Amino acid sequence: MASQNKVQGKVVIVTGGASGIGEATALLFAENGARAVVIADVQDEKGQKLAGSIGTDRSTFIHCDVTDEKQVKSLVESTVALYGHLDIMFCNAGTVSSGKQMVVDFDLDMYEKLFAVNVRGMAACVKHAARAMVGGGRKGSIICTASIAATTGGNIHTDYVMSKCVVLGLVKSASYQLGEHGIRVNSVSPGAVATPLVCNALGMGVEEVEKTFESTSCLKGVLKLNHVAKAVLFLASDDSEFVTGHNLVVDGGFIFPQSTQFNSSPQ
Ligand SMILES: NC(=O)c1ccc[n+]([C@@H]2O[C@H](COP(=O)([O-])OP(=O)(O)OC[C@H]3O[C@@H](n4cnc5c(N)ncnc54)[C@H](O)[C@@H]3O)[C@@H](O)[C@H]2O)c1
Repeated sequence: MASQNKVQGKVVIVTGGASGIGEATALLFAENGARAVVIADVQDEKGQKLAGSIGTDRSTFIHCDVTDEKQVKSLVESTVALYGHLDIMFCNAGTVSSGKQMVVDFDLDMYEKLFAVNVRGMAACVKHAARAMVGGGRKGSIICTASIAATTGGNIHTDYVMSKCVVLGLVKSASYQLGEHGIRVNSVSPGAVATPLVCNALGMGVEEVEKTFESTSCLKGVLKLNHVAKAVLFLASDDSEFVTGHNLVVDGGFIFPQSTQFNSSPQ
């Protein structure tokens, strides 16, 4: 894809940046002229490799477990120390509980572990990004990864669906509070994309995931990483300069399958 330099000169952090949607978006930010792309994740080897592929002159991997607020604070402070300020924060790290989380058998310990990443981690990232942007006088853009599961619900992963509903509430509240500083806060809600998160959660390979969800969109075809990455790029760039508090759904027009055999919720 020809570069359009949509985020020319911007300093960007991507959490959960070592894999899947985060990795694809980090690469798209780099292709679009970002001055610095900071990859934050708990997968050190993958993250370092990705930063190396973008170029060590403008990409760094920083180990950050988003469940630990101190690590999130340090991630943001290190980015500002290295590159001067923060323009774009893509809060994307997320997880799914292993095994089913049906209401009647709800494992509340698993739910708490998931909420530590998907909710507490997301809140910590928004908080520290906002502080850096307000403190640095940057009219930045914060994007959080929610999911269409927040609006469709789902048959299996109750805790995951709940966590993504909370992300929508966080984004709305943060957008109101940060508007006066010119900071925009939006979310992207993908349908099912065959990333490691989804493949592991459903115990399927990439092809099987894509085949399973192929019939769940009005548009023909399969949702790919770059469809989501391009939506995030839009929310990060000045193309969306008067858009805030918005939840951008990227799902090809989701249709809930009729089949009673269908037991996989979109992630
Ligand atoms: N793939 C989908 O179908 C889909 C749909 C809707 C929303 N999402 C959301 O997209 C986001 C990215 O997921 P993905 O599908 O690309 O999966 P992925 O597994 O490829 O990427 C998730 C990344 O988050 C990282 N991560 C997990 N826990 C972390 C922690 N505590 N601290 C820092 N990093 C952590 C993982 O190491 C991984 O690199 C998640 O928030 C997920 O809920 C995915």
